[in-house]
Amino acid sequence: MPRLSAWAVRLSLLYLLLGFTVGAIMLANKGIPFAPWIWRLLPAHIDFLLFGFVIQLAIGIAHWILPRYQGGSRGKETLVWGAISLLNLGIWTVSCISLFNLPGQWLVVGRLLEGTAAVLFASQAWGRIRPS
Ligand code: HEM
Repeated sequence: MPRLSAWAVRLSLLYLLLGFTVGAIMLANKGIPFAPWIWRLLPAHIDFLLFGFVIQLAIGIAHWILPRYQGGSRGKETLVWGAISLLNLGIWTVSCISLFNLPGQWLVVGRLLEGTAAVLFASQAWGRIRPS
């Protein structure tokens, strides 16, 4: 497994842990309300699990497993590092909005970062999607 994939998979597992923990805290707060502000964690819960865990795991595994170019290259790895960085920046931007009462425009910034990450990864992976 390439180093990039190992980091992406490790990060995705950390997000799984984080997302489940936040979900469990919200669930407990639903049963026995102890802190109304806990609901501000909901966007983080969703982004941690959908983007941090699911999408990041998919990127890490896809980069490792897709057919390689002739000569064994996996393409421009810097693009995938860029995608992983932008994805994580986007996740934390979106998660911080409700936590720190940031203006709603930050949601556009966060989603743009996540969207750009998807485009970067797709552009890099496209050429490797072919029957073996
Ligand atoms: C991969 C796993 C998971 C994903 C993708 C996920 C995703 C989501 C999403 C999208 C929502 C928003 C639903 C809505 O607003 O209608 C949500 C809400 C919630 N999730 Fe999760 N979740 C996951 C696992 C968990 C786990 C393991 C727990 C608890 C231990 C949990 C606890 C909650 C709670 C308490 C809510 C708020 C429900 C409400 O609005 O009353 N989630 N989750």
